[in-house]
Amino acid sequence: MNTIFADLQTSIFEEMSVLARHFKAINLGQGFPDDPGPEDVRRKAADAVISGWNQYPPMLGLPELRQAVARHYAVHQGLTIDPAAEVMITSGATEAISGALLALVNAGDEVVLFEPSYDAYLPLVRRAGGVPRFVKLAPPDWRFTAAQLAAAITPRTKVVLLNNPQNPSGAVYGRDELQLIADAIKDTPAVVVADEVWEHVIFDGRAHTSVLAIPGLRERAVKIGSAGKIFCLTGWKVGFVVAAAPLLKVLAKAHQFITFTTPPNLQTAVAYGLDKPATHFEAMRADLQDKRDHLAQGLRAAGLSVLATEGTYFLNVDLAPLGLTDDAAFCRRLVTEAGVAAIPVSAFYADASMRSVIRFCFAKHDATLDEAVKRIAVAAPRLSR
Ligand SMILES: Cc1ncc(COP(=O)(O)O)c(C=O)c1O
Repeated sequence: MNTIFADLQTSIFEEMSVLARHFKAINLGQGFPDDPGPEDVRRKAADAVISGWNQYPPMLGLPELRQAVARHYAVHQGLTIDPAAEVMITSGATEAISGALLALVNAGDEVVLFEPSYDAYLPLVRRAGGVPRFVKLAPPDWRFTAAQLAAAITPRTKVVLLNNPQNPSGAVYGRDELQLIADAIKDTPAVVVADEVWEHVIFDGRAHTSVLAIPGLRERAVKIGSAGKIFCLTGWKVGFVVAAAPLLKVLAKAHQFITFTTPPNLQTAVAYGLDKPATHFEAMRADLQDKRDHLAQGLRAAGLSVLATEGTYFLNVDLAPLGLTDDAAFCRRLVTEAGVAAIPVSAFYADASMRSVIRFCFAKHDATLDEAVKRIAVAAPRLSR
């Protein structure tokens, strides 16, 4: 057996979901929305299953979807992308990330990760033969500095793997911070792999800045998106990779032997959805922002210290003001004693060194959020002892 996967412990996500089912808890741990996703997009997929092509589509993706991806990013992010040479469709962002690491990393190459980091990154980096180097981020604002980058980036850095907007912190990095990364890798062979799956889920009037919009990074960055996140259809697993042609050629070689392709009917529906008017995406953001504020208000009223969320479906609570320093123990008590599941953010640090923050998913019906807040308010005085 391969020791990297064999040695992985049962994840905290799985543990919390099992406890949530056992204690009939409200599960605000898992990051999927209650909203079923836009009906017209789902109908398009259904029609395409019945009337469309159900055999292997082209390896790089349906041309209509690759063109729609290029158009979508031109309209929403001002990017100029060649759909024929710079876009590839994958089976979710997860495949895109693993494919990028397999295609770019040789054994012993260094890969810079920002912690807290999405749970798939570290095992995939290790399995690709990469040596992780960490930039540690901390609450309340999860920013990074040029000095931190300088300490992590070396001549052996092959990939800087950035998640922006960031899960679980909810931080959104802007042009200045992305420029810090461009400056830091200037004299190295490194490529920035930017997991931008949350690009449309950003709040308070923010605009997403892609890594491809940064001078110096356009030719040495890989932008990864996900239709699952853009349309609140997380089970669809349709991802997009955008990179300069010489990079994309190599990424495609990994993709052809991982999944080779992605269901054509879902690709047709996503192509249709990406052309929806800007008002559709604005309405989705407004709805999620209301939910964020609704949950934040309820948790604050229950006496918890809520951290700012700039993007993603997630809101974090800092336990430090309550004098609590074991987020995993707190989450176990929260699910068993209060009937609400959350995720300890220490799970997103390789050494679990940051142990005072817990993550809630707010992409749920208001009634679900209200019931969760009610349960937490009742249990809070006991849990904070
Ligand atoms: C940062 C990040 N990357 C990737 C994914 C997975 O995307 P997909 O479902 O398209 O594979 C998620 C899902 O939560 C995520 O939060």
